[in-house]
Amino acid sequence: MYEMKKIPCEGTMDHSLSLLLDGYSFIQNRCYKYKTDIFQTHLLGQKAICMSGKDAAKVFYDNEYFKRKDVTPKRVQKTLTGQQGVQGLDGKEHMNRKQMFLSIMTPDNVQLLIDYTNKQWKSNSRRWYNKDIVLFDEAQIIMCQIACRWAGVPLRARETKQRASDLGKMIDGFGAVGPRYWQGRIARQHSEKWIREIIADIRSQKLNPEKGSAAFTIAWYLDQDSKLLSTQVAAVELLNIIRPIVAIATYITFGALAMFEYPDCRKKFQISGTPYKDMVVQEIRRLYPFTPYVGAEVKKSFIWKQYYIKKGTLVLLDIYGTNHDPRLWNNPYDFIPERFYNWDHNAFSFMPQGGGDCNTGHRCAGELVTTEVLKASLEFIVNHLNYKVPKQNLNYCLSRIPTLPKSRFRMSKVKII
Ligand code: HEM
Repeated sequence: MYEMKKIPCEGTMDHSLSLLLDGYSFIQNRCYKYKTDIFQTHLLGQKAICMSGKDAAKVFYDNEYFKRKDVTPKRVQKTLTGQQGVQGLDGKEHMNRKQMFLSIMTPDNVQLLIDYTNKQWKSNSRRWYNKDIVLFDEAQIIMCQIACRWAGVPLRARETKQRASDLGKMIDGFGAVGPRYWQGRIARQHSEKWIREIIADIRSQKLNPEKGSAAFTIAWYLDQDSKLLSTQVAAVELLNIIRPIVAIATYITFGALAMFEYPDCRKKFQISGTPYKDMVVQEIRRLYPFTPYVGAEVKKSFIWKQYYIKKGTLVLLDIYGTNHDPRLWNNPYDFIPERFYNWDHNAFSFMPQGGGDCNTGHRCAGELVTTEVLKASLEFIVNHLNYKVPKQNLNYCLSRIPTLPKSRFRMSKVKII
């Protein structure tokens, strides 16, 4: 029998306010302070354990020890994820639903989305000639257009701006309190209503999306009991395809920032082939903050590195901190795409969209879609647009979740080349 260690503890006071104030750095700051990869705190009225690093991720993504049912806070469900979607399922039910998502991500389907991405950038940018634009806002509209077209969801020109804005607000609202949160909630209500009508139209054959598209697959998916999803749950899942494609606008904006702040990388990106471009896209996802942490509940008590972790405890895994862990990444706050040259593809050290095995766990179903759409978009910005970057506030604040360069990246005197 080996000796047990006591988990460093922040005391019994609730630290939800510190979580809000420290944002992305909440777990990392405390791990440095207590010189640990694990500590105990109180969040939203309950005991929580926070863990950081590669070893922590490995156990966090072990289905034997963790489950997701009823873990996501209601405020995140009511803005970002929706209720009763794949994120909160476990076991067989999760595996089945996850397969529904993964069946949409075929190489041919992903290629189709890249084609739509290229065409949409070309078409929308014609309207920007010699104008000043805010890249994030334009990218959000383009992502909404390609997401709907790809998913098989009709989108009229006059509703595009509103739909894109609603989908953006759902993403922007999840880490907030006050008006930003309420806007996110209302935006979700509008979006779910819209997509419930689409699902109903497909099931009554008023609308016939392409077989293999997300709308077709989700509307006609049969669960493990051979039943269709309820219209509401199908809408939540279809939004689980459309909304995160709109979220790629955040990475596109950070990508444009990287190309501005690292002109040598920009030059190399312009002339290099796919391997270098792939490394740039990975480094954008590693360096810039998006997902702060993910949560799960302990399903079965276990011992990790001599710490006893009790069944029923909420555990938060530090995504941002692990992607900036100096034990895993040299000079973690520098933009160095080449660091991915000899990267070992470890599923627990680089986790911008979750870690572990995508087929059996909760790792993001849309990583290939994200990297390919981001790459195609950046390629268009760098190789087909000529623009100036006027003076603006490009800082992003780590206490805001999700964060973005303050100016959302303004471009002036835009021309197509
Ligand atoms: C904008 C970039 C994206 C980010 C930062 C992101 C991030 C994440 C994260 C952190 C998770 C949860 C991992 C976990 O719980 O362990 C996740 C899950 C998921 N993502 Fe993404 N994602 C992105 C894009 C996408 C795209 C483009 C799609 C689909 C087209 C997508 C579909 C999903 C789905 C369906 C899940 C749930 C998986 C499950 O619970 O098994 N995501 N994503």
